[in-house]
Amino acid sequence: MDNKLIMKVVRNLLVLVMVIALNISLRAQHTHENGEEDGSHSHYIQHDSTISHKIIFPSKTPDRIISNLTADAAHTFAVNWRTDQDVSNGVVEVALATDGPEFLVREVRIITAVSQKFENQNRNEPLVKATYHSALVKNLQPNTTYVYRVGNGQEDNGYWSEWFQITTARTDMKEPFSFIYFGDAQNNVKSLWSRVIRNSYRQFPQVDFMLHAGDLINDRDANLEWGEWFHAGSFIHATVPSVMTPGNHEYRDGILTSLWRPQFTLPENGPIEELKETCFVIDYQDMKLISIDSEGFDESMEARAAQVKWLDSVLRSNTKKWTAITTHYPVYSTKAGRDNWELREAIKPLIDQYGVDLVLQGHDHTYARGFPENEGKGLTVIKDAGTVYAVSVSGPKMYESEDQEWMVRRGEYTQLFQIITVSENSITYGAYTPIGTLYDAFEIKKKKGKKKLINKIPDSPMRLRKDFIDPK
Ligand SMILES: [Fe+2]
Repeated sequence: MDNKLIMKVVRNLLVLVMVIALNISLRAQHTHENGEEDGSHSHYIQHDSTISHKIIFPSKTPDRIISNLTADAAHTFAVNWRTDQDVSNGVVEVALATDGPEFLVREVRIITAVSQKFENQNRNEPLVKATYHSALVKNLQPNTTYVYRVGNGQEDNGYWSEWFQITTARTDMKEPFSFIYFGDAQNNVKSLWSRVIRNSYRQFPQVDFMLHAGDLINDRDANLEWGEWFHAGSFIHATVPSVMTPGNHEYRDGILTSLWRPQFTLPENGPIEELKETCFVIDYQDMKLISIDSEGFDESMEARAAQVKWLDSVLRSNTKKWTAITTHYPVYSTKAGRDNWELREAIKPLIDQYGVDLVLQGHDHTYARGFPENEGKGLTVIKDAGTVYAVSVSGPKMYESEDQEWMVRRGEYTQLFQIITVSENSITYGAYTPIGTLYDAFEIKKKKGKKKLINKIPDSPMRLRKDFIDPK
């Protein structure tokens, strides 16, 4: 044989060997540990019988990653995540964000997380064993964009999250900032709430933080529901710091979900031990943001008295220009029979006395916004405006409401998110549907302690259930 022919035979033999090798490799990928082949392609045999097992069960790769606002958001952010119990420790790597990947070869700080093994089983859900990791990333520069990732500290990329980008708060009190406020997500969170949080971010990606006014899920300890909440927000939860107050559905029989403290890191500056991370205060630039745990308020007289006394002291020493309170139960509800008079009688005098600007609430599964001073006058500009109260809903569970004197704008059967921008002399507020339609808007202007409220309600008719759901 001449040389050319020999080369051709060798090449053909090599191709044949490669084809055989590839075939063996593909067959191996489709064969499970028990040696049987099937078409499911799943590598989670032990969990296959559980619906949504990828949302419920952890793996070695971090999931449910969330950054939380801290009491010092210009210099510190919190991050929490979950892995399976094969992973017993966690770290955060953080660096100044750069235009390209060069931050990898610059200074990357490593922060060791506090890791705790945790298991829970809710009703008929499977037992879920996880390790929850929690870290405070401190000593950051204000108004600076960082990259961070979470993992187990080893080199294998499979044990790390992606690098997220996050920006710290400013220390310049005059600079405007924005946050998005959500009422109850609660039900069908993956199916029907996901588009709300995702489109809120799409509409306003420069948002500084997100605020959830309770009832994030429906059933206190349901791992599937919490998994759906994290799935719906996905990378947004890790990119935009969140703050949340608990609702009655985070409680059952007077007990807060056992997942609240492992999966979030919220300020521990409330009045008593049992209200840690549920009742707290955050100074964000020139706004004081206060979470009142209204289910805690309902459940125990001790928690009630402690919160009222604490709120008084926080408001009395308040030097911030703007003040917002978030609490799940509405101080003014949207329908007779849903009135929370005990909460109102306890905190309304303090809200009035100290001139709180905004009270952001949930629970009623409808939308209403107004202020008691309005008394149904329908004024467009209120020269001596008081506190503005808002009740909103972001999930799909809907109740009807009744027109009440305090309301300026009302709406039913509408999923909403609110973009609120706080500036030196004004607060602007817009309530949007998931498709970006403006449903309600107003502006508060404050000068020398005097407040003016300008209603900017769009021309669209009030949305009521009867207009688009057939009465049965
Ligand atoms: Fe609720």
